[in-house]
Amino acid sequence: MDVKGCAAIVTGGGSGMGAETGRFLAAAGAKVALLDVNLDGAKQVAGEIGGLALECNVADAASAQAAIAKARETHGSARVCINCAGIAPAKRIVGRDGPMPLEDFTRVIDVNLVGTFNIMRLAAADMQTLDPVTESDERGVIICTASIAAFEGQIGQAAYSASKGGVVSLTLQAAREFASNGIRVVTIVPGLIATPMLLSMPKEVQESLAQQPPFPKRFGRPDEYAKLAMHIIDNEMINGDCIRLDGAIRMQPK
Ligand SMILES: NC(=O)c1ccc[n+]([C@@H]2O[C@H](COP(=O)([O-])OP(=O)(O)OC[C@H]3O[C@@H](n4cnc5c(N)ncnc54)[C@H](O)[C@@H]3O)[C@@H](O)[C@H]2O)c1
Repeated sequence: MDVKGCAAIVTGGGSGMGAETGRFLAAAGAKVALLDVNLDGAKQVAGEIGGLALECNVADAASAQAAIAKARETHGSARVCINCAGIAPAKRIVGRDGPMPLEDFTRVIDVNLVGTFNIMRLAAADMQTLDPVTESDERGVIICTASIAAFEGQIGQAAYSASKGGVVSLTLQAAREFASNGIRVVTIVPGLIATPMLLSMPKEVQESLAQQPPFPKRFGRPDEYAKLAMHIIDNEMINGDCIRLDGAIRMQPK
């Protein structure tokens, strides 16, 4: 699908992979709305690309509904929805202070899994109202972001792994459900990508992690995620899949 002139929604658009994908979409001619709890970050990227910055907590029904309505009012219903919002706090199931507080687990599930579902349901409802645009009657594409922690969760990643595993499981189900409306659902499964999420870890942890991908032996870059997202949007045979972007890394227990 050609994104020129299309409306696009990017959650987590104020930083990292979401911000970079917003830049790529705008460069290709899309009208981009950046939804983020961090409004300052979203505003900065929006200023760069002539996009729309909207404050949004993806885990909250009313907040997401309001942000998507505002994006629709400004740009029209989106044909492209990129779910990048996410958090990755680490904690053991049973740590030195006892069992993980249940709310710590729930919070990660709320943002990463419920948040992805929340935006997906609202974006898909809007996409279904649009006219098809390709020979195959495609109406739109929803891209979600899981993590290799969905498959190889390290110690301390219980909540994160479970949340991203949920995103992986949702992908095929949603693609099947939306197929009759010409809407694809694809999930990108990043390995280690150099964004504020990763670069906020201690230097020694970063140095050790950067050595782990077999090839290339470095962190991935946000533009490598954005390029894959743009290819997925363009290539309509990619549907219902989870695509690893990880330099062949397979994370060890710790
Ligand atoms: N960086 C990595 O190595 C890596 C690896 C695998 C998966 N991921 C996933 O990729 C996605 C993008 O992460 P990133 O690395 O660009 O991180 P990032 O921290 O740079 O960006 C994440 C953005 O999400 C926003 N956000 C957090 N909670 C939100 C909420 N409730 N509502 C709306 N926005 C919210 C943050 O404000 C931030 O702008 C995340 O889902 C993350 O879990 C990252």
